[in-house]
Amino acid sequence: MRLPGWVLVFMVIAGVLFALKILYVAAAGFVLPLTRGGLFVGTPGPRIAAFLDNIYMGPGTLLVDLGCGDGRVLRAARRRYGVRAIGFEINPLAYGVARLLSLGRAGITIRYANFWKEDLRRADVVFCYLFPDLMTGLAEKLKRELRPGCTVVSCNFPLPGWKAKRVLRPDHSRHGDPVYIYEILRM
Ligand SMILES: C[S@@+](CC[C@H](N)C(=O)[O-])C[C@H]1O[C@@H](n2cnc3c(N)ncnc32)[C@H](O)[C@@H]1O
Repeated sequence: MRLPGWVLVFMVIAGVLFALKILYVAAAGFVLPLTRGGLFVGTPGPRIAAFLDNIYMGPGTLLVDLGCGDGRVLRAARRRYGVRAIGFEINPLAYGVARLLSLGRAGITIRYANFWKEDLRRADVVFCYLFPDLMTGLAEKLKRELRPGCTVVSCNFPLPGWKAKRVLRPDHSRHGDPVYIYEILRM
């Protein structure tokens, strides 16, 4: 018996989507001990826009995204302000997608790296969209390493014990979650 063409096309698409889903789950599971549940999910456009509309970055600014996912924040910031942008990513699937989407774009570096092991002293702006379980440790690392004047932007989750300079609430029905802005104070 021969299957109709549309059934074959449907089966191929369903098979590819299933394989991608397996790949996504496997990659997330592989890095779970490090990410503690912080999945490979991109920051929605309205929140990236809120960040970029409110934080001016000059062309020499070094922007670091801790867990850069597919690298969308880095590309958007580079397009708008011409910043130097570095993203660290530990999920192999996210890293591959970020490298692919950022191919040939000057000024953007995507590193397959665990950000806990990276020295952040050179950063001017640090962006993150992580998970609550990581925020206490992250607050300590940032406090130790960041220079006075550095800006920290955290999507959804605050840094425990830190006082936000501003809290942005994007005017959007589904993506209105808070974006916390902090500044490392000058002595
Ligand atoms: C919610 S996603 C955010 C992605 C991107 N920052 C964005 O806003 O579109 C969080 C990402 O952080 C990554 N991540 C979590 N812990 C990490 C670590 N220790 N080192 C590098 N990447 C990490 C995860 O793999 C995931 O892709």
